[in-house]
Amino acid sequence: MKLVTCGLPYANGKLHVGHLRTYIPADVYVRFLRMMNEKVVFVCGSDCHGTPIVVNAEKEGLSPRELVEKYHEHFQKVFKKLNVVFDYFGKTIEDYHHRRTREIVEKLIENGYVYRKEIELAYCEKCERFLPDRYVEGICPYCKSPARGDECDQGCGRHLEPGEILEPRCKICGSPATFRKRNHYFFKLTAFREFLQDYLSKLAGTENAINYAKEWVENLRDWCITRDLEWGVKFPLDESLVLYVWVDAPIGYISFTEQFTKDWEDVWVKGNAEIIHFIGLDIAYHHCIFWPALLKGAGYSLPTAVVASGMVKIEGKTFSKTRGYVVWVEDEYLNARFNPDYLRYYIVNYTSHEKDLNFSWDVFKDKVNNEVIATLGNFLFRILSFAWRNFGKVEMKVDGEIIEKILQTKDKVVDAIKKWEFKVATDAIMELASYGNTYFQNAKPWELIRVDKEKAEKVVANALQIAKALLILNYPVMPESMEKIAKAIGLNLPNSSIEKVAEVDKELVVAKPELPFAKIEEKDIEPLKSAMAERFAEKPEISIEDFKKIDIRIAKILSAEKVSGSKKLIKLIVDIGNEKRQVVAGIAENHSPEDLIGKSIVIVCNLKPARIMGLESQGMILAADVNGKAVLLVPEKDVSPGTKVR
Ligand code: 2FM
Ligand code: ZN
Repeated sequence: MKLVTCGLPYANGKLHVGHLRTYIPADVYVRFLRMMNEKVVFVCGSDCHGTPIVVNAEKEGLSPRELVEKYHEHFQKVFKKLNVVFDYFGKTIEDYHHRRTREIVEKLIENGYVYRKEIELAYCEKCERFLPDRYVEGICPYCKSPARGDECDQGCGRHLEPGEILEPRCKICGSPATFRKRNHYFFKLTAFREFLQDYLSKLAGTENAINYAKEWVENLRDWCITRDLEWGVKFPLDESLVLYVWVDAPIGYISFTEQFTKDWEDVWVKGNAEIIHFIGLDIAYHHCIFWPALLKGAGYSLPTAVVASGMVKIEGKTFSKTRGYVVWVEDEYLNARFNPDYLRYYIVNYTSHEKDLNFSWDVFKDKVNNEVIATLGNFLFRILSFAWRNFGKVEMKVDGEIIEKILQTKDKVVDAIKKWEFKVATDAIMELASYGNTYFQNAKPWELIRVDKEKAEKVVANALQIAKALLILNYPVMPESMEKIAKAIGLNLPNSSIEKVAEVDKELVVAKPELPFAKIEEKDIEPLKSAMAERFAEKPEISIEDFKKIDIRIAKILSAEKVSGSKKLIKLIVDIGNEKRQVVAGIAENHSPEDLIGKSIVIVCNLKPARIMGLESQGMILAADVNGKAVLLVPEKDVSPGTKVR
């Protein structure tokens, strides 16, 4: 048996194309394995703990639980639409997960791998709290890039231990952090050096992850596994602490398997299964160092392979949600009604799994039109329509040469999939489609049929066999479309085995085929391209005189009420010093009128008044745009209304 897992997405935001770099290839892989008659269990779930959740919950004005439920539901909906089908998609907030996590940590304690130590932690005097992980920002001590408390996310990618970050500042109020002493618990990672060296020398998977891990193993340090937070799995020895999210998250792989099958111990305790983790390269350290050491320390089975994808770029730029280099899967891709199979194909075929993938709408359009439609779709539709229109039933006398070609392709595909070389596999499939097109074009059955129907039927039989092979081989990549097309020859793809590519039926009855592919026109991608361009448009340079023309002032909110009939709008009356103004602002989704009254904000006073839903707006509130949600700018100290902002 094989267990395939995908890195658990933090349930703190919507899915973007960057996420899919892990989930789509893993789903394609699982579907191939099943077609190769392997028994596979495929699990994943929402990562619900840690500061990534708590910080975003605060931003969205939700409780951590509400935030997690919201995005968990979103993940399930989007995965379903993309035909990424897990056997079990769990949540790490569930009791079963907390139980398994505590059991494992108790084992580590029992086995002598956990100790207590006093350390100096970042603390915010103003907020009167410790600042774990994403609550603190500063400078990476290794590469000097801006970094978060537990990871150098913009530079070298290293995991950072509490207290390590330089120039720490509180993420909530921006004050410089001080340091306070506090007892925390550590996992003796250094005791696992030799084990890890040996383990990594045998670990299968992609070289990118394993080679990095081999370098890191030389510089191990013990690992602080507790945090000062309310939200998370309570630490068994001190319930005022929770476990660091990177302790409990991977245990989800175990707890979700446990939820899915009573045979979970075969996988996780008895070592009777291969365990294959699909992850992004940014979390290779956690999967190749922390995770196997934890499993070893607690007496669990070890993963057999770590398959790490390269990162995603958007229109050639480094992916960044805050800077707008992002493509949202639901809002932008699915809502534009593109076939989900196009994106599946793009992601597995653009480049090799280990390399960085660039998502560009123009390249997307070209790949879909030239490869999926003009090569594969064209062949399938042409042959199936021809067979249906002229024969209906075809005697399947297939040439040995054709079977040979199909078998060669199948071997290439199987070999590539076993090595996680999705591009090589999908290129081979496209190459067979091109071969089919050339064969059909050269054999000219539409001419033959007028002079020699039997010969024409032979050509059709050969081409139909190629079509059948293509449908089977491409099913893991484009399941929805291949299933629709396969109906024309009564082929049940979900139950098909890859061996069937060369199995020749006595005859094939061909019904009218359906072609689920629509060409992508410039007008389909144009709005998406402009939305992105708008997000990352560099604004032209302006002079200080231009800037001085803007009358920006501090305003105090005197009253606030929702605009009836609108989900987004709030009507405010604000004091701008010498007068009162009515301002209509699109901030209702994450602000309630009661909370706004009395707040000091920043507004532009000399903007030409605008009418919004019949109401005059006499100013514009300044706010940061965080994924479409307004985060209001407020003065650092008490300032009287009307004070100028320069
Ligand atoms: O980096 C992340 O998005 C994490 N939520 C991945 C967790 S993977 C696993 F260990 F659970
Ligand atoms: Zn760094």
